[in-house]
Amino acid sequence: MRIAVFGLGYVGTVTAAGLASRGHDVCGVDVDEIKVGLIRQGRSPVVEPGLDDLVATGVAAGRLNATTRPAEALAGADVSLLCVGTPSTQQGSTDLGYLRRALEDIRAALDVALPPDSGFHAVVVRSTVPPGTGDGIVAPTFADLPPDGRWAVGTAMCPEFLREGSGVADFFAPPFVVAGADDDCVHDVLTRLFAFLGRKPHRVDVRSAEALKYACNAFHATKVTFANEMGRVFRAYGVDAREVMQIFCEDRILNISSAYLQPGFAFGGSCLPKDLRALLHMARVNDLDVPLLAGTLRSNELVVRDVLDRIVASPARTVAMLGLSFKSDTDDLRESPNVELAERLLGKGFEVRIYDPIVNPNRLLGANLRYVEARLPHLGRLLASTAQEALRGCDTAIVATSDAAVLDALRASPPARIVDLSGRLGAEIERISGYEGLGWTA
Ligand SMILES: NC(=O)c1ccc[n+]([C@@H]2O[C@H](COP(=O)([O-])OP(=O)(O)OC[C@H]3O[C@@H](n4cnc5c(N)ncnc54)[C@H](O)[C@@H]3O)[C@@H](O)[C@H]2O)c1
Repeated sequence: MRIAVFGLGYVGTVTAAGLASRGHDVCGVDVDEIKVGLIRQGRSPVVEPGLDDLVATGVAAGRLNATTRPAEALAGADVSLLCVGTPSTQQGSTDLGYLRRALEDIRAALDVALPPDSGFHAVVVRSTVPPGTGDGIVAPTFADLPPDGRWAVGTAMCPEFLREGSGVADFFAPPFVVAGADDDCVHDVLTRLFAFLGRKPHRVDVRSAEALKYACNAFHATKVTFANEMGRVFRAYGVDAREVMQIFCEDRILNISSAYLQPGFAFGGSCLPKDLRALLHMARVNDLDVPLLAGTLRSNELVVRDVLDRIVASPARTVAMLGLSFKSDTDDLRESPNVELAERLLGKGFEVRIYDPIVNPNRLLGANLRYVEARLPHLGRLLASTAQEALRGCDTAIVATSDAAVLDALRASPPARIVDLSGRLGAEIERISGYEGLGWTA
């Protein structure tokens, strides 16, 4: 394929040289004449292990070139890859000025450059951009192209996951290939472009592809901060946090795994809130500030409040709470966010009926009993003996269990609104999760 790469920094140079090494004809474009000059001489404008060789080989083979003139790179090109910078503004928003300028350059070049034989050109963003950029800025740039003109353009988002310092190695072994493309033609181009990786791209919508890169970087930053906060607290207790974290990482079931990484409802139960509070206390008595750990409790509270606010703002008045314990298959009610939600709904005057397939008030004992008596003193009166009974006459169901019988009861007689805190109802009810919004059935 013939490829134009806009922006010859870390991402652009690795991408251009990497694709050239896999047999594509690549022309890089940059506004910086020095960077363009270096590439033309077969030298990399950025320092990355292995990149000098890759650039030199590509240029010597005639597969890699560079220019400051977009129309020269666009001539006969099947794809434009946008790898320009998207730095922070002073307010922290993303400065899309370089991206806008590069898009305008591409659009102008289409009026003068010869199209490829197919007549189709894919404009693909690899820079990190906020969700909505593709729909709001990238696609509209080409909306004025006549449908029967020389060039047909499709746009897409294909985030880059390389890390500086191992950019070349990462380029050839990415964690995944993600094609955010609403258009089949662009998706086909991306599949062919990255075929050398031997990986089928994940096809998602443009916004999800844009969002994914932020989720990855935020998670990486959070991991570093988490490990450092652990290190600072444990040092005060003479603990070797490196040893602790080394063993911590051996747990591939809960720690280094997909566990707990689905957006949903708040955490709770008899351990997580208690032990977090204990860690925060250990930090406090040692004059240590641990804002990430402290923020988790606050953020957890906001999740409960968010769901409550949405229910209060809706026409809901009679609510069936299906599932009360902090997770399915336990009757432990201690610090269950569902108990918290039920308590607040009652306090706001909602009629609340509760069904939990496991919780039986006659069998609750000890701390569990004391906790629920303090929060929901009339639990016995609120409890229904079946999900059907709880749902009868209710306008809203809050689903906090994955019990199959409860889900069947909901399917058989769905109330006007369903709030799925279990995350188990999936596509059956559009967009239903504590974070994403209330899922309303018709
Ligand atoms: N650096 C990384 O490790 C990394 C990894 C993944 C994603 N990203 C993202 O990729 C993007 C590029 O990052 P980078 O580190 O390569 O940036 P960079 O600053 O190293 O390079 C950007 C290049 O774009 C050029 N440029 C600006 N306007 C242009 C235009 N109109 N036409 C052509 N070239 C133009 C600049 O001169 C510069 O050479 C950013 O959005 C970044 O967030 C970076």
